Amino acid sequence: MSFRCQACGYRSPKWLGRCPQCGEYGTFVEEPEGSPVPPELSVQEPPKPLPEVPAPPPERLSTGFPEVDRVLGGLVPGAVVLFGGEPGIGKSTLLLQLAANLADRYGKVLYVSGEEAPPQVKLRAQRLGRESPNLYLLSTQELLSILNAVSRVAPIALVVDSLQTVLADPGGGEVGSLSQVRESAAQLSRAAKTAGILTFLVSHITKEGGFAGPKTVEHLVDAAVYLEGIREGDLRILRCVKNRYSSTAEVAVLEMTEGGLVEVPNPSLFFVSKGAGPRPGTAIVPVLEGTRTLLVEVQALVTPAGGYGPPQRRMAGLDLNRTLVLLAVIEKHLGVHARALDVYLAVAGGLEVTEPAADLGICTAILSSLRDRPLPLDTVVLGEVGLAGDLRPVRKGPERLQEVAKLGFRRAVLPHQPLPKKLGLEVVQAKTLRESMEALELL
Ligand code: TYD
Ligand code: MG
Repeated sequence: MSFRCQACGYRSPKWLGRCPQCGEYGTFVEEPEGSPVPPELSVQEPPKPLPEVPAPPPERLSTGFPEVDRVLGGLVPGAVVLFGGEPGIGKSTLLLQLAANLADRYGKVLYVSGEEAPPQVKLRAQRLGRESPNLYLLSTQELLSILNAVSRVAPIALVVDSLQTVLADPGGGEVGSLSQVRESAAQLSRAAKTAGILTFLVSHITKEGGFAGPKTVEHLVDAAVYLEGIREGDLRILRCVKNRYSSTAEVAVLEMTEGGLVEVPNPSLFFVSKGAGPRPGTAIVPVLEGTRTLLVEVQALVTPAGGYGPPQRRMAGLDLNRTLVLLAVIEKHLGVHARALDVYLAVAGGLEVTEPAADLGICTAILSSLRDRPLPLDTVVLGEVGLAGDLRPVRKGPERLQEVAKLGFRRAVLPHQPLPKKLGLEVVQAKTLRESMEALELL
């Protein structure tokens, strides 16, 4: 017997209160030594007359969602995709849509749900208007039943919803425990490889953003994607965190509608206030949240101060002290008499922005409002502003700009810092706040 941390997989010969690898408390669970020998999967079909033998699937499969295909980097038979996301974000919905599309195009698809009964899944398929006759449903939590069903149906694609509901080894701990999740993922990927079946493994993610039963599963799969919500609305981002077949920087933007998830072809429109056109006093900034880039709109309203007492300084979603410093820098280095101005600042969408990388965005919004001159809608600004009026490089500049380009923006103003040649957008690099304001025609 040995003990294993359910958070990171660390193994120890004795029980530990705190995991020395990941630092979590109370995560050790006793586990039998060595994993059970899995039954090898063989897709044994009876011989068939030639006309009934299905044509081999094409080299690359399409899900019918071009953006999703791009994120997944071209699906090949036998590829295993880990599909993560918080509960309720739309994983089952999207995978049912993908499964139905694949079934319509290429042949049988087996959708296994450990959470919902077939009638429930059917109801969802009906709501989505996707009742493909080639889509096979099964409700089970037992790995053996899944593998048997795979042998019987011989699908071209398999969806397992979710890994946390698959019981691989009846004697090996609770369903959803790390050992079960790991064992299920290992056996399912082996089956996928052996039989050349494109396989999607749904995985709930923990609050911290990791896959439950995390790294030990990720190394078993060819691609890992997350479905994430942004703001409180219906937008979803499908983001690749690992891909054996293509660049991991790709994202797809989707919207949850009555008819399921639909691709948003022009995502940049969702990040600026809709229908308003260019407005003075706004600047779009690509900020980082963890590893993800979010585009936020910084809004400023600058008016002449009333005259009595100190001028107004009101912030929503921004740090007051940081902004006071920026106003002093604007006063000193741009020659703006900031003390005579009331300044109101906000971040649209209720987000909290604390990154210094948003400095330039704040200054830009202030100047834009002061001059009553809007920025072009396709422009983002990014950079830390120093006390000497200089612009400082930002963390993960290339990653942010890649995302910005992907989301449809065409121009970025930022500090001098190393950037890759091909970013797909015009880059204006400035040494100082003054230079950047000149580039934006705000001085
Ligand atoms: P679901 O796919 O069940 O999420 P997950 O599998 O990630 O837990 O989707 C959950 C939400 O999606 C649910 O609140 C209802 C909503 N929804 C729609 O808005 N439109 C639809 O067509 C469907 C099927 C679901
Ligand atoms: Mg679900």
